[in-house]
Amino acid sequence: MSVTIVVGSQWGDEGKGKIVDLISKDADIVARYQGGANAGHTIVINSKQYVLHLIPSGILHPNCICVIGNGVVIDPIALKSEIKMLEENGIDVHNRLFISHKAHLIMPYHKLLDQVREKDAKSYAIGTTGRGIGPAYFDKATRVGIRIVDLLDRKGFEQKLRNNLEEKYNILHKIYGFESFNIDELMEEYLSFDAEIDDLITDTTLYLNNAIQQGKKIIAEGAQGALLDIDHGTYPFVTSSNPTSGGACTGLGIPPTSISNVIGIVKAYTTRVGNGPFPTELNDETGERLRQIGAEFGATTGRPRRCGWLDLVALRYSVMVNGIKDIALTKLDVLDDFDEINVCTSYTYEGRTLKSFPVDIHTLENLKCEYTILKGWKTSLKGVRHWTELPAEVLQYFELIEKFTGAEIKIVSLSPDRADTLIKL
Ligand code: GDP
Ligand code: IMO
Ligand code: MG
Repeated sequence: MSVTIVVGSQWGDEGKGKIVDLISKDADIVARYQGGANAGHTIVINSKQYVLHLIPSGILHPNCICVIGNGVVIDPIALKSEIKMLEENGIDVHNRLFISHKAHLIMPYHKLLDQVREKDAKSYAIGTTGRGIGPAYFDKATRVGIRIVDLLDRKGFEQKLRNNLEEKYNILHKIYGFESFNIDELMEEYLSFDAEIDDLITDTTLYLNNAIQQGKKIIAEGAQGALLDIDHGTYPFVTSSNPTSGGACTGLGIPPTSISNVIGIVKAYTTRVGNGPFPTELNDETGERLRQIGAEFGATTGRPRRCGWLDLVALRYSVMVNGIKDIALTKLDVLDDFDEINVCTSYTYEGRTLKSFPVDIHTLENLKCEYTILKGWKTSLKGVRHWTELPAEVLQYFELIEKFTGAEIKIVSLSPDRADTLIKL
């Protein structure tokens, strides 16, 4: 058993990029299993920052092979610019990246549909990233999507594209007044993309299963977070895929029996981008303070992230749904200067204590959070290199999280940089 899944445990942006980069130092393969260029995973090495949207966060280790699995939806423009950015920084991509021939393609009409639907939805808008994610997964589920393998058969690709353009024209032109896309230009663009990435396309399901048989060390990297999961998140304010750990099996074509561990990335407080319920949100000075200290602005869209205290009721749910055994707690340094740290340890709704994480939006939006208040450590964690150097107040924070969730904190992150991380032995 050689696969470790890394999942976002909250609403995304927990610091998955940093932790996957860190633990992939000794991994053979890092494989992304869902989402698309809606993700923005940040890695900082010696003050140099890399933001990855599609390529797995193991790419900065020269001996690590990276895989984009069948569950990912691929935007050629985003992928090309990411490969270019990495190559310009001296990172070899072409011999180390494999892309599933079963992965679906994001087409320009997906992005347009995503954006116009959001504009139209007004108060019901999800606040998507506008990267075409929902419409691409919609096409996948309704079986009209275009996969990478389709680019091999020019005639078949043309027919699928024609059918799609006709169907989308009905919406985009008749409702929104857009002109149709030029099919020849689109064919040209996607076939030239295919030629560019030809050497990267492979049967990644077979590749990964062979690697599992050989006992290789594999990390499955999720995007987004459990509370944005289409099945288990705060629906409908979610993304259109399954970031939870189960998504790794379907998104890569690997069996559940190959999974040895699930690491949950947990931000020491909570953030959310876009719309939807957020029980511990702070619409006050404290929220603004977290945003400023934590530099909470989206890595993909630059939008300010909504901020609030750590929500242990939501986290316990996430630990359960994902089967998280180990926690990587990130951005602990952001709390260095707070006198008190609040942690939500119970929800009440209409005077009753809720026993579990609610499923309906109305309850989520109207419940009340009960907080446990801990003393802050009021000291900079900068430069701390060993677990034993952590102040007692920090250890009390850990104890509360571990007791409440049943998972163990094994990694602690103290700055964006790879170097500022503690690992519990
Ligand atoms: P991801 O989508 O889960 O990979 O997370 P993002 O990269 O979108 O957002 C996390 C942000 O926090 C990035 O800007 C990281 O560089 C930064 N970051 C990660 N870990 C830490 C940490 O321990 N402390 C601080 N201050 N910043 C961190
Ligand atoms: P990473 O991998 C945080 C949010 C959007 C929106 C909702 C649906 O960096 O953690 P979509 O474009 O997916 O249809 O938008 O999901 N969202 C994210 N929030 N981090 C992400 O990715 C996100 N990807 C999507 O803001 O609320
Ligand atoms: Mg992000």
